[in-house]
Amino acid sequence: MLELLAAPPVDPLWDLSAAFAADPRPERLDLVLGVYRDHTGATPVMAAVKEAEIRLAERAGSKEYRGLSGNTAFNRAMLSMVLGTEARTARATAVQTVAGTGALRLLADLVRQTRPGTTVWISDPAYVNHRPILEGAGLTVRTYGYVDRMMDDLRAARRGDVVLLQGCCHNPTGSDPSRATWEELADLAETNGWVPFVDLAYHGLGDGLDADLWATRMLADRLPEVLIAVSCSKNFGLYSDRTGCAVVLGPSRLTLRRVETALQNSARVMYSMPPDHGAAVVATVLEDTGLRATWRAELDAMRDRIAANRADLVAHLTSLGRPDVAASLQRQKGMFSMLPLTPEQMRRMRGRSGVYGTDAGRVNIAGVCAHRIPFLAQSIATALDRPAASSGDAPAGSALAPAP
Ligand SMILES: Cc1ncc(COP(=O)(O)O)c(C=O)c1O
Repeated sequence: MLELLAAPPVDPLWDLSAAFAADPRPERLDLVLGVYRDHTGATPVMAAVKEAEIRLAERAGSKEYRGLSGNTAFNRAMLSMVLGTEARTARATAVQTVAGTGALRLLADLVRQTRPGTTVWISDPAYVNHRPILEGAGLTVRTYGYVDRMMDDLRAARRGDVVLLQGCCHNPTGSDPSRATWEELADLAETNGWVPFVDLAYHGLGDGLDADLWATRMLADRLPEVLIAVSCSKNFGLYSDRTGCAVVLGPSRLTLRRVETALQNSARVMYSMPPDHGAAVVATVLEDTGLRATWRAELDAMRDRIAANRADLVAHLTSLGRPDVAASLQRQKGMFSMLPLTPEQMRRMRGRSGVYGTDAGRVNIAGVCAHRIPFLAQSIATALDRPAASSGDAPAGSALAPAP
């Protein structure tokens, strides 16, 4: 049977990570995946998370099944963290998911169960997994230009359509709409009757937790229905514990009960129920005043370090005579920056300097140690230079291959 399997497409990001791992140059830099690294280059377990894990271990609880909605204390705490007020949480339900990806998929399933064939609009460029997840759930995908063409393109979104919006720190561009544009989006959704589907993966890493949640909460206040996929991977550093939740605001308790059952049914046939550990950790942190304060301080420190990295990169690029590149980075926020480099120049940067970003120009600013910023700036400037003769460049056809 399996010999019938045609070669499936390889995920380009994990492919680049494999090329990085095989690159022997000690000075190489991996800026492909969205993972926070501290000043030592490590992806730390946050102190609040460690303390919560100790408390959970000491409590010696049971590993009994938790139920199809996952950890209910976690769901309550997440609703309150994301939505901020009782007036909003009273109109919402939450189901624990296998991280942000699981939330995107369960919510996509919910849309299909509600109305098969629904059109979902995603940004162009988009997070690399948005289209496959939505199409995998049987939905039709259309795109809106990001960020300048967004309002014009979304005028074509119709009643019953769903519009996927990243709540903050847009992946891959690092550019978010202004608050005025968010308000215009809410006007458009109200007038034309489409439903916002907010993807929250980086809240706390842009302008601070509440500022990063402002747009989501504003949409929740203005519209009867909002779908929200929430990830705890980045802002709790729980990447491998696969922790997140699907939040839905709806018009009545009856509708919300149906929504919860529909989400549970989707989970039931895919993985039955999500793993508990990360959710128990998050619930422990958010329900304890002291741990919550520790977590908020750590999150702020992460955000400050990312902002400092970006400012330092801007300064170095300016002093290297690339104020054009520096200016494009200055306005961006969150883990990612989009370099104004062509795919050829990104490949050249890989080949010449061992600096790995995506071909589209995305680099993970949160993945660089501060002392490596001058090297990164120099590598960008060198990639923008006219190509040198092939000496020192990697073989053509590999992920390291420089552009001609
Ligand atoms: C925009 C966006 N949404 C969702 C996710 C999913 O994250 P996870 O499934 O690791 O929680 C990511 C991960 O990089 C992302 O960038």
